[in-house]
Amino acid sequence: MTTTDRYGVMGYPVSHSRSPVIHRLFALQTGQNLQYELLQVTPEKLSVAVRQFQRTGGKGLNITVPHKAEVIKLCDQLSERASTAGAANTLTFRDGEIFGENTDGIGLLRDLVINLGITLEGANILILGAGGATRGIVAPLLEMQPTSLRIANRTLDKAQVLADRFARSGPVTACRFNMVPVSDKYDLIINATSAGVAGDAPPYPAAAISRGTLCYDLSYGLKPTPFSQWARAQGAEKSVMGWGMLVEQAAESFHIWRGVRPETAPVLKQMKISA
Ligand code: ATR
Repeated sequence: MTTTDRYGVMGYPVSHSRSPVIHRLFALQTGQNLQYELLQVTPEKLSVAVRQFQRTGGKGLNITVPHKAEVIKLCDQLSERASTAGAANTLTFRDGEIFGENTDGIGLLRDLVINLGITLEGANILILGAGGATRGIVAPLLEMQPTSLRIANRTLDKAQVLADRFARSGPVTACRFNMVPVSDKYDLIINATSAGVAGDAPPYPAAAISRGTLCYDLSYGLKPTPFSQWARAQGAEKSVMGWGMLVEQAAESFHIWRGVRPETAPVLKQMKISA
């Protein structure tokens, strides 16, 4: 008798997650027999829920907000990416052990470089925000050898901690939103704040946008996010929401779990249509 392998996404709240749809489309496309569940788990229940999923034969989990940092404590082994990011979004259960990986950074890179055709080598990059999302993307971006990477944040201390943490890996600096020099021009501006969740468009440094700037919001939504609206209003050549990163990070997880790399373009197209 063949059993169906079980996967899922754990978060709180998690009802809005598109991961089940994406993974079902990947499974259909690649002919893989699996099921993928939505698992709403509060922070205090995280450890119990992960262990129970493991004990009952689950094969893998995606981990989303707010559990990505906490879950690394439950991992027996961590990839270099997950340990550098201090967070994991993909768990694999094998031989009684939990392997933690972080596919967010590579998902973003694949969207930027392959789907959007951006050259990151030699680019000037500005990241807005200095929370968990930023921590996961700084190292992968620095690997692409940009000329500069500035982290701007409402709270300077948090941006400075991250800049210090990654200083050995590349040319990274920190400042407040309002301290981005007006003379600075960026090829890529990434919104990694959670401000849009509350519908806010914080006092982002408008002067940083010039012709040719790609504005990328890690958030995505049915309608343009506050950041993408703001970017368009400032004259950004291109303003993109994070649908591509979402699908690409999922494809990386799928590849880790199933050893097959699904094609992302048709799934991305379908996600945007159904959005
Ligand atoms: P995540 O894991 O999504 O990055 P987080 O770790 O709570 O979430 O970080 C949220 C980020 O969004 C922080 O950079 C936060 O700024 P502070 O460090 O100053 O708190 C930023 N942020 C959230 N709401 C914001 C707002 N209304 N205006 C500006 N920045 C905001």
